[in-house]
Amino acid sequence: MRATKTTLFIGVLCLCILVNVLLSKFPNTTDVPQTIDGLYCNVKTKISFSTITQNSTNFENRSDEEVLPKGSLENSVSYNSCAVVSSSHGLMLHTYGREIDAHDAVLRFNCAPTETFEEFVGSRTDIRLINTRIPGRACKKEFLNDSIAMFNREITVVRNFDAVRLAPRGIDTKKDRFRVFENLKEFGRTHPNRTMPFILIPDFGKDIATELGRFCIATGKCKKTDKSPSTGMFGVVMMLHLCNWVYVYEILPSNKDSTNLRYYYDEKAKNLKTTGGFHSFSQEKQYIRTLSLTSDQDIANTGVALLKGLNKVRCD
Ligand SMILES: *[C@@H]1O[C@H](CO)[C@@H](O)[C@H](O)[C@H]1NC(C)=O
Ligand SMILES: *[C@@H]1O[C@H](CO)[C@@H](O)[C@H](O)[C@H]1NC(C)=O
Ligand SMILES: *[C@@H]1O[C@H](CO)[C@@H](O)[C@H](O)[C@H]1NC(C)=O
Ligand SMILES: *[C@@H]1O[C@H](CO)[C@@H](O)[C@H](O)[C@H]1NC(C)=O
Ligand SMILES: *[C@@H]1O[C@H](CO)[C@@H](O)[C@H](O)[C@H]1NC(C)=O
Repeated sequence: MRATKTTLFIGVLCLCILVNVLLSKFPNTTDVPQTIDGLYCNVKTKISFSTITQNSTNFENRSDEEVLPKGSLENSVSYNSCAVVSSSHGLMLHTYGREIDAHDAVLRFNCAPTETFEEFVGSRTDIRLINTRIPGRACKKEFLNDSIAMFNREITVVRNFDAVRLAPRGIDTKKDRFRVFENLKEFGRTHPNRTMPFILIPDFGKDIATELGRFCIATGKCKKTDKSPSTGMFGVVMMLHLCNWVYVYEILPSNKDSTNLRYYYDEKAKNLKTTGGFHSFSQEKQYIRTLSLTSDQDIANTGVALLKGLNKVRCD
């Protein structure tokens, strides 16, 4: 009896594995982009990009509504040439500072500083994309002090992977682990004159994750994962919406950096090469590499990849 059960169990297990293998061998071909333009069209049509505005829903609580900007980010700015500057230690192996500052807009991530690193990463920051740990748990001092440029003289955008959700009658923050929304509300009360950050709609992150999975299955270039997309990936897709041309610095690494260091500003943080960390880094890199107009050899030499903005992409 026991043996039969075990056999049955193993049989079912084998069948499941077989079905899985077959499914991954024969992907849903309706979604396979045949060309680089096809992939750009997927970014344009399958990933919904916007920020939450006062207008987004019928807010029951007026104090929730007041945290949010009136208009959306995509209706507030647009640029010709943009730089997306990663926080990678690889930036220290080049001197891209001047080149980065010459773009029409520069995007940086989280608490990445420019001071003392100008030669390598430039000095201007137009947009800063932050995760939900800020300002509750990280770079609080910079966020709260009006005389520090970081966050204060930049457009701030909050990465939102389903933490701040849009419910029929307002904001649902049950999944907001780091209480970013409550912190911003509090901050709005104490800093009435400060411009509040833009908060990405939850669908943006979810759509990126779905699109990455679809890409991996369709192309076989990567393995589908349950890990969430990194803030870097959010930033690249966001800038594709806001810019005609997007130059991505050291998200696809050059072959120059033989150290095992992670950040250009923190020599203690070790690289996550082996574990991959919490995010879908390898999938994203494949994706961005496929979108890139720059050859693999040039990326290997420079760590810079050029992508074209979505307003240049025509989709039927
Ligand atoms: C394949 O993709 C199409 C278009 O997105 C979708 O309508 C269909 O349900 C998918 N089929 C499967 C088996 O996932
Ligand atoms: C509205 O927000 C305030 C301040 O965060 C809070 O004290 C109050 O309980 C909220 N009211 C409702 C109905 O959610
Ligand atoms: C508010 O929403 C309406 C309808 O979607 C739109 O026409 C209007 O431009 C929005 N207003 C702002 C300030 O975003
Ligand atoms: C805010 O930052 C300025 C400039 O760095 C500094 O001089 C000042 O002491 C800071 N204020 C507080 C309250 O930390
Ligand atoms: C906010 O701005 C108003 C008008 O510019 C000014 O009168 C007021 O002093 C400012 N408040 C703070 C706290 O900076």
